[in-house]
Amino acid sequence: MVRKKISVIGAGNVGATVAQFLAAKQLGDVYLFDVVDGIPEGKALDIQEGAPHWRYDLDVIGFSTSDETKYKNMEDSDVIVVTAGLARKPGMSRDDLFDKNVEIISDVSRNIRKYSPDSIIVVVSNPADIMAYALQKFTGIDPSKIMGLGGSLDSSRFRTFLAKELNVSVEDVNAFVIGGHGDDMVPFIRYSSVAGIPIENLLSKEKIEEIVKRTRFGGGEIVNYLKTGSAFYAPGISITAMVESVIMDKKRVIPCAAYITGKHADHYGIRDKFIGVPIKIGENGVEQIYDIDFRPDELELWKKSVASVEASSKKVDEWITKHAH
Ligand code: LAC
Repeated sequence: MVRKKISVIGAGNVGATVAQFLAAKQLGDVYLFDVVDGIPEGKALDIQEGAPHWRYDLDVIGFSTSDETKYKNMEDSDVIVVTAGLARKPGMSRDDLFDKNVEIISDVSRNIRKYSPDSIIVVVSNPADIMAYALQKFTGIDPSKIMGLGGSLDSSRFRTFLAKELNVSVEDVNAFVIGGHGDDMVPFIRYSSVAGIPIENLLSKEKIEEIVKRTRFGGGEIVNYLKTGSAFYAPGISITAMVESVIMDKKRVIPCAAYITGKHADHYGIRDKFIGVPIKIGENGVEQIYDIDFRPDELELWKKSVASVEASSKKVDEWITKHAH
């Protein structure tokens, strides 16, 4: 059996944590890339040296891309996780990262197109829906092979808060968050349950509102504590779940940013953009998009999220026009 190959671009807290979790779950060889000399080599070696205890016989190797030719090492990756970019500081929204991160994604995209255009790609760099859109535009890769982190993490936070409030196992809390991975994300209350029992039967309206709000600002809550950057443990495992579903062809249904086109675009009122919706993830990437019906109040929230994603996606189009030569 040939081992799978997973490349992680960006060896900051999120990238390195993903690399560790991917290795721990023995999903494949992990190649870690970063533009800062020494960081990917050092962190990868550190992860590799824990192998006897974790019991993984995998290669975990780091490459500094200050020498751009080192990107060649991501050739023929099965999955590429893109975490490269700046992270938030307190007071910043994910959208504030746009200008810097779109440039970084442009560089990364050029190399993905060159060395590994057939991979399934998970975009994590924020704003994730928008960077997924940018990466698709820059690479021209089939959009069904690209997905953005969002709901996988936001739902994990939502489920955690619900489980803590109700004092039940997180395993029995089913809940999801759709929309953009920004402050207008939509925790979907009506489809959230504890072992099938709607949360609306278990919690007061006020309590649910409080949890929804905390979920929306869950990333910011961590940034406010850390001050120097974003969350990485919950993001790390949420990304790992997506990669695992690709590598093992598990066909998990997880809300993630996916490219909305065709009849799904008619349904969701957003066309040829990436936004968080429930998708089936398998070896081919996004294998199915599920259309959810909205009640009028839900539709209002959804439209608000669509409007922010549309506005930011437009900035990508403008950036491309400005930089075209
Ligand atoms: C968060 C960042 C990773 O939500 O977007 O923590």
